[in-house]
Amino acid sequence: MTQRFDVSGKVVIITGGGQGIGRAYAHAFADAGAITVIAEVNAALGEQVAAEITARGKQSMAVATDIADPAAVDSLVAKVVTRHARIDVLVNNASIFSTIKMRPFTAIPLDEWDRVLRVNITGTFLMSRAVTPSMQAKKWGRIINISSAAVTMGRPNYLHYTTSKAAVIGMTRSLAKELGAHGITVNAVLPGATDTEVARETVTAQQKAAMIAMRSIPREETPEDLVGAVMFLASDASAFISGQSITVDGGLTFL
Ligand SMILES: NC(=O)c1ccc[n+]([C@@H]2O[C@H](COP(=O)([O-])OP(=O)(O)OC[C@H]3O[C@@H](n4cnc5c(N)ncnc54)[C@H](O)[C@@H]3O)[C@@H](O)[C@H]2O)c1
Repeated sequence: MTQRFDVSGKVVIITGGGQGIGRAYAHAFADAGAITVIAEVNAALGEQVAAEITARGKQSMAVATDIADPAAVDSLVAKVVTRHARIDVLVNNASIFSTIKMRPFTAIPLDEWDRVLRVNITGTFLMSRAVTPSMQAKKWGRIINISSAAVTMGRPNYLHYTTSKAAVIGMTRSLAKELGAHGITVNAVLPGATDTEVARETVTAQQKAAMIAMRSIPREETPEDLVGAVMFLASDASAFISGQSITVDGGLTFL
């Protein structure tokens, strides 16, 4: 009998896997026996995570990729298919996030608005489009889009970011309908404010404390808290779940 929660041997692309939560996904999939591909715009960070994983005797490769660049995305997918003959799981995790400066929407420069939407929405579209032929050929695939509980909270002062993450939920639902008949599920995960090794301005200490106090489970969220939902959605255990958004924020918001 197949192990329904098993992801061992699966070829898993994690975009933005060079730091933060994406790095945690990469290590968790590797620990579970998956073959990980770190698709990361910061080549040095991607190489470092792949090296950490291979140093532990697991299979991993880093491919320097800007997910907003169609040529780079196609080249990434070609490299993975050449090396591993298939792509089983795509975790659309890369976003412009920790570098964002919080400010009223009237102060967001148009070029910054365009770049955030280009990476967070168009990048997710380009990656999903590029992996689909390989998944269709095997009649099995999992696309996991990382949205944000900032959408359900209506968090202010990074309107481009929340707009992009809301779009990802719509994309998840429509893509699920287009791909379900091919054995491919598409779901979204909405993390709450999660501490990583990366300093950022998107949440102040006071805001974080207030959010923790409002959670059903009143403690800090860590990247490891997100791993279970993502790995479940990558496995056979979630075979009949598609188009859904799973919020992992300690029970703060309810979609
Ligand atoms: N940390 C949180 O509190 C939180 C909360 C909700 C949702 N999220 C989402 O979870 C994901 C990971 O969050 P994080 O805290 O690790 O973010 P982060 O900003 O620390 O990491 C993002 C990673 O994506 C990479 N990246 C950026 N643009 C890219 C591009 N064009 N092509 C390829 N890679 C690119 C970055 O280099 C970086 O390694 C993001 O989608 C974020 O929006 C995070």
